[in-house]
Amino acid sequence: MKAVLIRQFGPPEVMMVEEVERPAISSDQVLIRVHYSSVNPVDWKIRNGSLRLLTGSKFPMRLGFDIAGEVVEMGSSATRFNKGDRVFGMLDFRHIGAYAEYVCISENKLALIPENLDLREAAAAPLAALTAYQALHYKGKIKSGETVLVNGASGGVGSFAVQIARAAGAMVTAVCGTDNIELVRTLGADRVIDYRKQDFTELPDRYDIIFDAVGNFSFFKISKKLTCSGRYITTLPNKPADILSFFLTSLLPPFFKGKKSTYINVRPSGSDLGALSLLIREKRMAPIIDRMFSLEEIMEAHAYSETGHARGKIVIKISA
Ligand SMILES: NC(=O)c1ccc[n+]([C@@H]2O[C@H](COP(=O)([O-])OP(=O)(O)OC[C@H]3O[C@@H](n4cnc5c(N)ncnc54)[C@H](OP(=O)(O)O)[C@@H]3O)[C@@H](O)[C@H]2O)c1
Repeated sequence: MKAVLIRQFGPPEVMMVEEVERPAISSDQVLIRVHYSSVNPVDWKIRNGSLRLLTGSKFPMRLGFDIAGEVVEMGSSATRFNKGDRVFGMLDFRHIGAYAEYVCISENKLALIPENLDLREAAAAPLAALTAYQALHYKGKIKSGETVLVNGASGGVGSFAVQIARAAGAMVTAVCGTDNIELVRTLGADRVIDYRKQDFTELPDRYDIIFDAVGNFSFFKISKKLTCSGRYITTLPNKPADILSFFLTSLLPPFFKGKKSTYINVRPSGSDLGALSLLIREKRMAPIIDRMFSLEEIMEAHAYSETGHARGKIVIKISA
């Protein structure tokens, strides 16, 4: 089968499409013929070696987390899916390699693709939508009627976060660039702040949840924009001051007047994907696709993602 491999860390050019052995399934796994995958920024952070402490440096290394395809074989104890089922899912960090014609995956990391979604759209969802869902529901414990600000609302994660927060009954403020104001309004944002014209941390409003998919402000600046029981959740715990704030808000809550700072680390989950499928089926959420590339164009796809200006998701077509 064809798969994307790297034999060293580096720029997009280190990615090669090569012929490799088709993987063999273990008992709780299913073998998926992958039709589409999608690019997440973590893919190129792995490729360029920024995450080598987590990935190790054993080559050749596969890339890619998101899959949408059909079940072709089931392990002896796998019972949830049948041959031919259309499924989508996210691979886990230790078994990445979604940029490939076939993958093996535990059945508890998969869900059936809703009938109103094609395979191309389905591939756009897993990692980014799971991040937004797990951040808002598990870390943020979002409640109907709360106010939520999404920073980076037009990106892969943010475009799902706006829709998930809205579906949970929150009042959503979306922070995005000028070109994406209309897009985030159609996703259900009640209010939009153009980050090119206004800095939301300088405005008087406070929020019950600030979900940050950009990471361009410190918690100490953002904490002033949280209500008394406000929760800040970031996808990017980059700054030492932020990492310190995760510990301090947990250890000394009175000092922060009940405000909390936390970090989301997305996990594959078939049951969370099932909850997201329900939102899709009810037409309360839909993936936004910016561009599509073939497997052979994977270098261009990564280079585009690395601009930091994708509008929704970048999809990779793997097989027809
Ligand atoms: N920890 C985890 O589990 C986890 C999971 C998923 C993602 N992440 C991380 O979260 C980050 C976001 O992921 P993603 O998939 O959403 O990335 P993405 O799709 O590349 O996001 C790009 C978007 O960010 C917007 N943006 C750039 N600068 C901005 C600013 N200053 N204010 C507001 N919006 C801005 C861009 O809008 P413009 O074009 O208008 O600038 C663009 O729409 C990545 O760094 C990723 O690695 C972490």
